[in-house]
Amino acid sequence: MKTNVVYFSRTGNNGRLARAIARALEDKGHAAELNQLKTTHPNASVIPTVLMSVFKMPARLVDPPVIKDGDLLVLVGPVWASAMCPAIRAFLGTLPDLGGRKVLNIVAGFNPHENVVRDINHKIKTHNSGLIVSDALRLRDVDNPEKMSEYAEGMVKRILA
Ligand SMILES: Cc1cc2nc3c(=O)[nH]c(=O)nc-3n(C[C@H](O)[C@H](O)[C@H](O)COP(=O)(O)O)c2cc1C
Repeated sequence: MKTNVVYFSRTGNNGRLARAIARALEDKGHAAELNQLKTTHPNASVIPTVLMSVFKMPARLVDPPVIKDGDLLVLVGPVWASAMCPAIRAFLGTLPDLGGRKVLNIVAGFNPHENVVRDINHKIKTHNSGLIVSDALRLRDVDNPEKMSEYAEGMVKRILA
């Protein structure tokens, strides 16, 4: 099974999680391609960043990954200002028809934000996805590499079931 693991990370947590998921998929014999979303203003200060999130403005992405084929799409990204972060919003705007592809959607934050998960799932469904498995992750629940691997393995098991 071919998977695209797409993530956005500013301070490293979502990147570690995306890599743990890719490893868990590979351990099960599946190919996983990691795609980090990069924005044109990676060091933008907090105020414009928060405003963009609140007003649902997408970021500008540098070379967004093209998700043409594959059996599974994994999306990992942070909550910013109780909303989807602008890089993930921009990526969702580039999605093609997913042709029934399964999607694993994980949204990480200091607290779990189910509303953000629902928002992203809603957008993914408009691109003709198949089954979506999703989670609002509280970062402090995966505060060491072992817990993160365990969490990643659990999510991979759920999407492969
Ligand atoms: C501008 C900004 C706003 C944030 N707003 C929230 C929030 O509303 N709720 C929350 O639980 N976490 C919030 N966070 C915490 C992020 O979700 C957390 O820092 C992120 O998931 C860490 O991911 P990273 O290390 O991959 O960048 C915010 C972080 C930033 C930078």
